[in-house]
Amino acid sequence: MGNNAWFETVAEAQRRAKKRLPKSVYSALVAGSEAGLTTDDNVKAFSELGFAPHVAGLSDKRDLSTTVMGQPLSFPVMISPTGVQAVHPDGEVAVARAAAARGIAMGLSSFASKPIEEVAQANPQTFFQMYWVGDRETLVQRMERARAAGATGLIMTLDWSFSNGRDWGSPSIPEKMDLKAMMKFAPEGITRPKWLMDFAKAGRVPDLTTPNLIRPGGEAPTFFGAYGEWMGTPLPTWEDVQWLREQWGGPFMLKGVMRVDDAKRAVDAGVTAISVSNHGGNNLDGTPAPIRALPAIADAVGDQIEVTLDGGVRRGSDVVKALALGADAVMIGRAYLWGLSANGQAGVENVLDILRGGVDSALLGLGRSSIHDLTPSDIVIPPGFRRDLGTES
Ligand SMILES: Cc1cc2nc3c(=O)[nH]c(=O)nc-3n(C[C@H](O)[C@H](O)[C@H](O)COP(=O)(O)O)c2cc1C
Repeated sequence: MGNNAWFETVAEAQRRAKKRLPKSVYSALVAGSEAGLTTDDNVKAFSELGFAPHVAGLSDKRDLSTTVMGQPLSFPVMISPTGVQAVHPDGEVAVARAAAARGIAMGLSSFASKPIEEVAQANPQTFFQMYWVGDRETLVQRMERARAAGATGLIMTLDWSFSNGRDWGSPSIPEKMDLKAMMKFAPEGITRPKWLMDFAKAGRVPDLTTPNLIRPGGEAPTFFGAYGEWMGTPLPTWEDVQWLREQWGGPFMLKGVMRVDDAKRAVDAGVTAISVSNHGGNNLDGTPAPIRALPAIADAVGDQIEVTLDGGVRRGSDVVKALALGADAVMIGRAYLWGLSANGQAGVENVLDILRGGVDSALLGLGRSSIHDLTPSDIVIPPGFRRDLGTES
């Protein structure tokens, strides 16, 4: 890449991703479901919150570091797992390297394109993410493979309702990148020569298999093969959550909690952490932004478990808003995917630097010397902002 590979904001990274990626790959990252109400609200809700800055007596030194799931973080951001394929030849390994270079933890999706062994080697602070796919024996095998690879935590994601329509249309993704599929997608590739060149230089076609879902002695299932198995798996109960939590033993996050009553059940199941999340708006459309649900959840369980948030984080100031309202850290999805698409590992590092700079700048303005000192009084919360879900039961 030339001298102008650096970008200033996540919005610019997204513009470059759109230019660089074939349309179907870009739209798989935009994702969302149904009318896109939730994906929109995730971002919009942050913009409804304001700051209450000080002008003098500000702090020259600001501490951004923290610990979540037993992992030290140089600033309170982690990589949220995304099962995304064909974005970049180095895929999740590039993301893991960038996260390691910036001192933060990496979540790896079980639908990812790179094996946990390579990713954990690139970043020793890797959490493996699992859905409830397959029988208990298969789940344990997958989990033990991640443990053997050095995963330091497990993320269980449960919010998924198999919604498959989008008003703006869904990308068509081939079952497998064979010659036939390459021909079909060639016109898209030809208009995106840089993206194609990256894969050509790496000497491979985009991999659409899921190497973390291999059964012993078997082959990596295709993305859709694995998705089909997931749809056919009986849905987990709270006892199942507790069971998986016990099998793992180490730091364990339940991702996708939006209600206070579910957060309390997660505490009862023995989790280390929850992520207040609606899957980036890709799940049940009409679910409010996590930042609206966070305050009630943090009040209810924040002194018993770690509370993180993901969904809509595009700026360091968003991170600070979430922390002031009770989160211990946030996770990012699309923000790093735009960076990866725009400029590989360096692009992800660029995004992390933007967020880190934004956190530091907001702390300075608020007169706080540590992220741990942030409180709701730093934030202007408009009336009716909160959504206290699941507080009746
Ligand atoms: C393209 C895409 C794929 C995703 N795949 C997964 C996944 O495999 N597992 C998971 O737990 N979450 C997945 N997510 C959700 C993210 O982990 C995270 O919750 C979400 O992206 C946060 O919202 P943001 O993109 O606004 O930061 C995915 C999100 C996107 C955009």
